[in-house]
Amino acid sequence: MNNLEWVDEAWSKVNSKIDRTSKKIGANFPHASVNGTYQLEEPFWWTAGFWPGLLWLVYRDSKDESLKKIAEQCEEKLDKVITDYYRLDHDMGFMWTLTSVARYKLLGEEDSKRRALLVANLLMGRFNAQGNYIRAWNPWHEGEDNSGWAIIDCLMNLPLLFWASEVTGDPRYGHVAKKHGETVLSNFIRKDGSVHHIIRFDPESGERIEAIGGQGFAPESAWSRGASWAVYGLSLLYKHTKEDKYLQAAKSVSHFFIANLPEDYVPHWDFRLPEGVTKYRDSSAGAIAACGLLLLANQVAPTEAEIYENAGVKILKSLYENYGDLENPNQDGLILSGTSHYPEGKNIDVPLIYGDYYFVEGLSILKGHEELFW
Ligand code: GLY
Repeated sequence: MNNLEWVDEAWSKVNSKIDRTSKKIGANFPHASVNGTYQLEEPFWWTAGFWPGLLWLVYRDSKDESLKKIAEQCEEKLDKVITDYYRLDHDMGFMWTLTSVARYKLLGEEDSKRRALLVANLLMGRFNAQGNYIRAWNPWHEGEDNSGWAIIDCLMNLPLLFWASEVTGDPRYGHVAKKHGETVLSNFIRKDGSVHHIIRFDPESGERIEAIGGQGFAPESAWSRGASWAVYGLSLLYKHTKEDKYLQAAKSVSHFFIANLPEDYVPHWDFRLPEGVTKYRDSSAGAIAACGLLLLANQVAPTEAEIYENAGVKILKSLYENYGDLENPNQDGLILSGTSHYPEGKNIDVPLIYGDYYFVEGLSILKGHEELFW
């Protein structure tokens, strides 16, 4: 992987900033930075793993014990969520991969392994065997039935299942991950390489009913963070299965993503917006996709790798140079201009903790770390 001077410079600034913000944020769960201050969420919110995950990425090189302690405290705070049936959804993979699996991979901590295996079992429990999908959310309000919903983001929860199969020797977890992956291939990816956010199935028969717009502009638009989950999620599916169909799908969604990037390589929040709708950037989509593109580059022949590696590096470099806010003492976030949920008017044009996490993961990959938490 390229050894680029700007990466070392960015990494050093990230370290200084995290040294400061870790003392302010502590063992809590930031999500979006509003007026320079990270707003905290409850531990059950899907973003809970990103702050401790980011601390583990920095700790891996710095060995700063204070960061390790905060990441461990976050993991312990998540314990009460494991028994809260109503709050647990498909995002368990995001939450415990970046806390328990990360700690187990870095330190061999048995308690973390136990936690992550317990959660992998709970995640398997959301599998609908008729429709071959992992159910997404629980009802958002009394009487709602969303038991037939599956979403593109869930690809990133599958590595927890592959990890569980690897450490237990029991292939069931991987079987479920692959079944869900096949459903994504046959139902979520359009011919042009763009993806749907939500597909609704009949939970009884398993038949596909419709596509739903979700966090994108419309059912047939192209939400860029959804596209970035597909870029990284499918590259990971190929890494874990070595099945060519996932490699081809990862290439297809990556080509769509790269072809739709604006001049500065940081995506708008949706790639298919009608005139009149503000094209806010979503820096988090850029950071996520960059990690996926770098992983893809590592898994194809060198002649093919160039297109993915170049795009991944250009996105990260633009995030650093044009969106990074690494030396501003009045801003908790690392990169500006994330868009969390445009249709609901939530957290638009602000730093987002998952944008920060994947930006730092991307830098750590460019620094030479090939071993992933995922
Ligand atoms: N997983 C939800 C999102 O990407 O906002």
